[in-house]
Amino acid sequence: MEPNSKHKALWGGRFEKSPERFTQEFGASLPVDKRMWRGDIKGSIAHAHMLDAQGILSHEDVVAIVDGLEKIKAEIDAGEFEFDINDEDIHMAIESKLIADIGEAGGRLHTGRSRNDQVATDTHLYIKRLSHVLAGHLLELRLTLIDVARKNFGVVMPGYTHMQKAQPILFSHHMLAYYWMFSRDFKRMTNAFEAADILPLGSAALAGTTYPLDRSFVADELGFSRIYPNSLDAVSDRDFLLDFTYACSVCMIHLSRLAEELILWSTDEFGFITMDDSYSTGSSIMPQKKNPDFAELVRGKTGRVVGDLMGLLVMLKSLPLAYNKDMQEDKEGVFDAADTLEDCLRCMTGMISTMRVNEGRMRQGSLGGFMAATDLADYLVGKGVPFRRAHEIVGELVLSCEKEGRTLQSLTVEDLHAHSDYFKEDALEAVDIDKVVSKRTTVGGTGHSAVENQLEEAEALYNLDTELLSTF
Ligand code: ARG
Repeated sequence: MEPNSKHKALWGGRFEKSPERFTQEFGASLPVDKRMWRGDIKGSIAHAHMLDAQGILSHEDVVAIVDGLEKIKAEIDAGEFEFDINDEDIHMAIESKLIADIGEAGGRLHTGRSRNDQVATDTHLYIKRLSHVLAGHLLELRLTLIDVARKNFGVVMPGYTHMQKAQPILFSHHMLAYYWMFSRDFKRMTNAFEAADILPLGSAALAGTTYPLDRSFVADELGFSRIYPNSLDAVSDRDFLLDFTYACSVCMIHLSRLAEELILWSTDEFGFITMDDSYSTGSSIMPQKKNPDFAELVRGKTGRVVGDLMGLLVMLKSLPLAYNKDMQEDKEGVFDAADTLEDCLRCMTGMISTMRVNEGRMRQGSLGGFMAATDLADYLVGKGVPFRRAHEIVGELVLSCEKEGRTLQSLTVEDLHAHSDYFKEDALEAVDIDKVVSKRTTVGGTGHSAVENQLEEAEALYNLDTELLSTF
């Protein structure tokens, strides 16, 4: 392969040969990190302003640098900037263009700075942005879940344990369970924002610098609320990326659980929901098919996001201080996790807001499975029977119903009486499915009044979190 001589590296002074094309490409991160260009320019402008304020560079040089950077920003924004793989990364792409455009003054920008604190700063800025965007998508999904819970208030469905019918619940209660999961994801996402809200710039390569930098000046201009107190830690810390990717992973796990239920519920066997056509696909051979592809994709993409987290964890394991090139591998997985989660959140919000809730199928499902059995036992307890004995009596009752192919709701008082004298006329009420649900009024329970309170609590937290995000 021909040595590459077209472009002399910014560190070219100490080298007699340029790298070969292959190693140049192997070592480059430009294709991955070029999306951080906005933060890179913002960070460079803040650095230049500070060098001016501290009298480290002349005012004329700084004006030329800032004008040059603004011009590059406009070019990238307009899609006119030519990215060249000879530039290893976005930092060098912008700096070498600046030097080509404005000459000597451009060569002064990097005074008191290293790419090590520069890349860390860019990444912190970018994670602040990504976590903000994702937290916004989480709010939308949460609002959608509240809406669906409100709209379908009163719809009864079977609740499951071990995938066996257990006790009837409100469909709204089931939806709100996910609401709380995504509320915790929101918290994790805003925690990730806060973990990224600390400035590395001013740490230089690893040890700080001899120039009288003003790190607070840069932190203020870039909107960081804190400054790393240790230069080694500043350039080596990727915990904020772990926090962010962990937040993405847990959220994907939650999405995958919801996706799985939607897939199950839209089967012919369940029929609890009908997925909207816009979130389904057909089959190339079977004309009748309507597949929940998008829910399956959300479920399937969970693996890659968790993989992104694993990749990052293992990349960091045993890395000595301070910067090591291994760390260049951090961004690809993190960006993939962010992009994947964003798509999945949007998709889930769309699926939930457009699906049809089949109340009749859910009610029908709630009558099977002897789900009022606990309530019948509780009825006997109310008549003074010890719970263990009541459990046994109702167990025998269920067994005989099962043998005769009957539901608990089809039993007469005489049928009940045959199993225990304690069963009176009012025992029939104990198996009424709506009453079984509405009696569960403990805080956090599925009873109508408890779920109404829960909805209010969910709305209050949604409003608080919306307000919180607007302050970020
Ligand atoms: N492209 C590098 C990265 O993403 C930038 C930092 C390079 N620093 C260095 N000393 N090679 O991590």
